[in-house]
Amino acid sequence: MMEMSLYRKRLKLVRGHGVYVWDDENRRYLDAIAGVGVAVLGHAHPELARALCEQAQKLLVAGPMFHHEEKFAALKELHRFVDFEYAFFGNSGTEAVEAALKFARFYTKRKEIIAMSNAFHGRTFGALSATWKKKYREDYEPLVPGFRHIPFNDVEAAKESVSKNTAAVIVEPIQGESGIIPATREFLRTLRDVTEDKGALLILDEIQSSLRTGKFLASEHYGVKGDIITLGKGLANGVPIGVTLANFDVPHGKHGSTFGGNPLASRAMAETLKILRREGLIEKAGEKRIEVRGEKVIETRGMGLMLGILIREPAGKYVEALQTRGLLVNTAGSRVIRLLPPLIISKEQMMCIKQLLEEVLND
Ligand SMILES: Cc1ncc(COP(=O)(O)O)c(C=O)c1O
Repeated sequence: MMEMSLYRKRLKLVRGHGVYVWDDENRRYLDAIAGVGVAVLGHAHPELARALCEQAQKLLVAGPMFHHEEKFAALKELHRFVDFEYAFFGNSGTEAVEAALKFARFYTKRKEIIAMSNAFHGRTFGALSATWKKKYREDYEPLVPGFRHIPFNDVEAAKESVSKNTAAVIVEPIQGESGIIPATREFLRTLRDVTEDKGALLILDEIQSSLRTGKFLASEHYGVKGDIITLGKGLANGVPIGVTLANFDVPHGKHGSTFGGNPLASRAMAETLKILRREGLIEKAGEKRIEVRGEKVIETRGMGLMLGILIREPAGKYVEALQTRGLLVNTAGSRVIRLLPPLIISKEQMMCIKQLLEEVLND
């Protein structure tokens, strides 16, 4: 009953088309949050929809013990964007992180995992142990032993952090949930250097930051390569998926998933990546950034179509005001309005968003 009454207060979405969604009273919204960064091709993309219908009539499940061509196609598309030796397919971002943490301990035979202040990596126990904020953690303790946090963007702390007991350092190149906070170049490069020096691994959590900054991985802007990379969100445009890439092999059976990498999700990922590549949407995202200005605005953070507008007041009431004006965004951290729009959005539509944001913030 409780769940139901909470749910009723929220906007109820019934359909989508391109960058727009409609609610149950047929009101149209420009969706600049896209399922929290998921609908990179927008909603109801006809080519993807056709491929998924066809796949549903062909093969939905194969099981982890068999190969199928959709997974090969997905891997082939992924290889066009990023180098890797091994890929594990799961069903969500948090599962991609769990796999990354397990692979790091397996490969190094070490136990310690170092994560960052303000990090968000997901809500299952391993990912939660790497997540920073008390509000996500406190009701579920004890969490997994062996995790420790250092201050994000503190180069000195990074230099001191890694020891011969450290399996991995996990970091988001641009922190998403805590308010679109990019790592500094020096910090990320220091983490790369110290992990390499000490025989530890660098896990780059690109679940939120991949696809939308103008390059496939946000870490490419830094010239930093991870040993393990986690992906999710928009990789299959809404079909649940999480992928963990490693620059080493993990023997079959060391980790697994019933649904991970099933033909439907694999097909969705292959098609999504194919369309993104053909249309040059990842590169174009880099040119669509907006800078929001005004009295209440401290700064616009982030790159391309991964943006956070830090304001001087709590952001919640502005998110609601924008919704009544037909624009969907959300908060990331208490004073940040977050934009993760579909990559098919036009520059003109981004300019309309800027105008509306400035209007509402100046009201
Ligand atoms: C950087 C990062 N890692 C992990 C996750 C968890 O992904 P999921 O919600 O798909 O489990 C998120 C989700 O917001 C994220 O932003």
